[in-house]
Amino acid sequence: MGVPEGAGLAATARQMVADGKGILAADESGGTIARRFAEIGVESTEPARRGYRAALFSAAGLSEHVSGVILYEETLRQKMDDGTPIPQHLAACGIVPGIKVDKGLVAMTADSKEQVTEGLDGLGKRLEEYRGLGARFAKWRAVFTIGPGTPSLPCIHDNAWLLARYARICQDSGIVPIVEPEVLMDGEHPLQRSAEATRTVLPAVFAELRYQGVDLTGMVLKPNMVTPGAKVFGSASVAEVAAATVEVLRACVPAAVPGIAFLSGGQSEQQATDNLAAIAALGPHPWWITFSFGRALQASALRAWAGRAENAPQAQRALLERASANSGVLRAAIATR
Ligand code: 13P
Repeated sequence: MGVPEGAGLAATARQMVADGKGILAADESGGTIARRFAEIGVESTEPARRGYRAALFSAAGLSEHVSGVILYEETLRQKMDDGTPIPQHLAACGIVPGIKVDKGLVAMTADSKEQVTEGLDGLGKRLEEYRGLGARFAKWRAVFTIGPGTPSLPCIHDNAWLLARYARICQDSGIVPIVEPEVLMDGEHPLQRSAEATRTVLPAVFAELRYQGVDLTGMVLKPNMVTPGAKVFGSASVAEVAAATVEVLRACVPAAVPGIAFLSGGQSEQQATDNLAAIAALGPHPWWITFSFGRALQASALRAWAGRAENAPQAQRALLERASANSGVLRAAIATR
C-alpha cells in the first residue's frame, strides 16, 4: 500500500520504520557511485547508473522488506526500463520514494579535518519540486570524526543546527526529514569513544530540533551504531555493540520519535545484520528499530550486477537476500514481544 496523497508526516514516518521493514539507501552522490562502480571496473555513466538502480528497484517482492528508498536527485528524474518514472514505480510497489537533499561535505575551516554539510540554500524551493516528482521524505547527512579533540563543540553545534534547520524546512514543505548524524567508524578508537561521541552529538541535535519547532513524531532518526573504530572493529562483541548502542539511544532519543533507522557505515553486510538483530532483540524499545543501509544492502548486489544488464536477476536475488535477512531479524524480535 502506498502512502495516500496528503498523508500526514507522522503517518509517513511510521510507514517508513514500522513492522520490520527498512529503507534502502540508494542515494550515492555522483562521486560516491563512481567510486563504487570503479571497484567493479564499471565506468559511471548516466545509463549505467540508471540501469543499475532500475534493476534493483525491479526486484520482485522488495516491498515485503523495504518500506522506502532514498534516491539521488538524478534518479528521481530517471525512468524504469518501461518508461515509468522511478518514483512512480516505487510508489506503485508500495515503497515510499525519498531524496537526499544535502549537497555534501565541506571542511569546517581551512585548517580543520572536521566537516559541515552544505545544502540549505534554496532548499524550500527544491523540496517543492521534489514533492511534485513524488518524493515524500528527505535525507541530510552530517558527519562527526573521532580523533584528538574531535568531534569538537563547534562542529557538533554547526551540524546540529544545520540538521534541525533542514528538518524544519522539510516539515514545512510536507516532507518527512531523515535526520542523519553519523559518528564515523574511521579510526582505531575503542567502543567507548564511539559511545561518548554519540552521547554528546545526539542531545545537541535534539536540542536544536526542539528550538526550531521540529515535530519529533514526523521525522526519522538515522544514527550510527555504537561500534569500535573500523581498524579494531573486532575488539567488541556483537552483544557489546548492541548493549552500548541501546544504552546511548535510550539516554538520548525521545520516545516521540517514531523510528530509528541505522546506517551501516562501512560494516560488512553480515556484521550490520548481526548487530541490527542484537539491538532489536534488546527491545521492546520506545521507537521502531530498523535499517537504512546503503553498502550493507548493496555490496553483493553491485558485484553480482557487474555492469551487465543480463545480470539483473542475480543482483536482485542478492539485494532480496540482504533485505529479507534484515527484515527477518526485526520481525523475529517483534514476534517475541
Ligand atoms: P551506509 O549504510 O553505506 O553507511 O549508507 C547509508 C547512508 O545513506 C549514508 O548516508
